[in-house]
Order: sequence, then structure tokens, then C-alpha cells
Amino acid sequence: MSFTLVEQCPARLNRSELAVPGSNPRFLEKAPGSAADVIFLDLEDAVAPDDKEQARKNIVQALNDMDWGGKTLSVRVNGLDTHYMYRDVVDVLEQAPDKLDLIMIPKVGTAADVYALDMLVTQIETATKAKKRIGFELIIETALGMQNIDAIAQASKRIESLHFGVADYAASTRARTVNIGGPNPDYAVLTDPDAGKKREVHWGDMWHYPIARLVVAARANGLRPIDGPFGDIQDPDGYAAQAKRAAVLGCEGKWAIHPTQVELANTLFSPSEAEVTKARRVIEAMAKAQKEGKGAVTLDGRLIDIASIRQAEVMVQKAEQVAKARK
Ligand code: GLV
Ligand code: MG
Repeated sequence: MSFTLVEQCPARLNRSELAVPGSNPRFLEKAPGSAADVIFLDLEDAVAPDDKEQARKNIVQALNDMDWGGKTLSVRVNGLDTHYMYRDVVDVLEQAPDKLDLIMIPKVGTAADVYALDMLVTQIETATKAKKRIGFELIIETALGMQNIDAIAQASKRIESLHFGVADYAASTRARTVNIGGPNPDYAVLTDPDAGKKREVHWGDMWHYPIARLVVAARANGLRPIDGPFGDIQDPDGYAAQAKRAAVLGCEGKWAIHPTQVELANTLFSPSEAEVTKARRVIEAMAKAQKEGKGAVTLDGRLIDIASIRQAEVMVQKAEQVAKARK
């Protein structure tokens, strides 16, 4: 281990993160019944400019009047480049005190963006004698934000998670796609001809770099990396494929922009029974090996060593977190 120890943010289950537009009272009413680990009530891109004020009122009312059980609740405020943001923060925190757990900040470009929100939230919490301390979820969805991601990830003690906002990221980097997430057939390699002169097109994942980059910045700072939206709500297989590859890279969860995506995310970001059983066997085998004074042994024909214990412990801890939430 490095002499620098990474402090972990508060532990929360964040397998699914359901987006609920603040301008739609029917969706707001249904939201508390969702199985999502985190619900974010949206004031930003799902709300048209003319509806912003009413959406703010709807959200304040929903936070105050509805029974949210133990749900983790967040509000996505508007960007720092708009004139809506300050009032989003002030109105929601002052008029619905101690209801929110998190504020989601979109299009974070620099560490100073986070600093500015921290200052505002700190003042409101002090003035209102708030009992709950608000955490931050940051969406990395611009080239500027991705360039500054390391400084951003360290910008405030309030930060809990970094989210990959694929749609805005595509716009910002001028990627040639109009889908929200998912692969693109033009991002592919053509194999050399085989003996029969046959060539194959192998699709690649055009989002591999930003997600892998975001996972590193998040984990190096004790934060949760979360994969963003997948737009084709009619394509559960496509959603599942995107979720799985994000989980494999280290993401803890994925957005659900439709309620049908919630269960998929909850399942795909929970370790499977087979994975947990294997992890427990690794821990047992290594405990036995260490008693015998060995640093490495074979299990099912494969070498495992002390690093394998850490990998296995991550899996078992996640399974325990999920089991606790089910109780
Ligand atoms: C999310 O906000 C996105 O832009 O994908
Ligand atoms: Mg966005």
C-alpha cells in the first residue's frame, strides 16, 4: 500500500439511480414506490426552461409531502452557467429542510465549480441549522470536466460519486453519434482476411476510455463511479450489455431513465451467487495457505495470492451491503 491512504466516502448502495423529471407530477408520485437505490429528481435537462420554476415547486412539495421510506434522495440542479442554479439550491434546501441526501451537479468543468456549490450549500446548512449534511454527485460530461477530473474529484469533502453523462459528453467532444450511450457500428475494426479471404467487423466500445478514466479518478479518491444513461428504453439487452461492461470496469451502478431499467441495474450490479461463492472459496483457500506459511496456492487450477484476497473481499463486502439493504 501507498503511505497515502484513500479515505472512502459514506457507504451507500448505488446500483440503480432513477431519473425523475421534476416537471411531471405523475412520475413524481410514482417515484417513492421504485426499487431504485437512489432517486434523483431532475431540474436540469428533462425540464424545459418554461417549466423550471414549477418543477422546483413540485420537487419541494414531493420532498415534504410524500413518504420516501429510507430512499437515498438527490436533486439534479441546473448548471453553473444558468441563472437557475442558485435558486434550485436555495429553494430546495430551505423549503424542504433535511429531506435530501445528495445534490447532483451537472456538467462540472473545474474544481472551482464544486467549490462554489460547497460554499453555497455550507451557508444554507449553517443558516438553517440543518441536521443532515448534503453530499455531492458530480456528472462528468464535458471534455473540460474529463480533462480536469482528478482535481474535480478532490474538490470537496462532500463528493460521493462521479457519474459519466454520456449524452452531453458526446455533444461536448463532438462524437459522431446521436444515441444516448450504446455502441456505434462505425467504432469498429476490420480483421485481416483469413485463409478463405473472409473478414470480420469487430465492434468496439467507444465509451471505454471515459468510463475507465472516471473509474480511476473516483476510486483514487474513495468515490463511487457510476455509469450514466442508456437511451433506448425498448432494448433491455442493450442496457444489460452496457451495464455489465461498466460493472466489469469497476462502476457501482448505472442510471435508469425509465423505471423498467431499475431492476436490471439492481441485478447486474449485485454480485451473483457464483461470484460470491468463488470469492469465499478464495478467502478460505488463502487463509489455509497463510497458516501453512505460503503466499500463493492454486485453486481450481489457477494461481491465487494475497492480491486475490483483496479482490475477493471487495466482492463479499458488496454482497453483504446488498443483503443488508434487502432486510
Ligand atoms: C446525462 O446527463 C447525460 O448527458 O448523459
Ligand atoms: Mg447531461
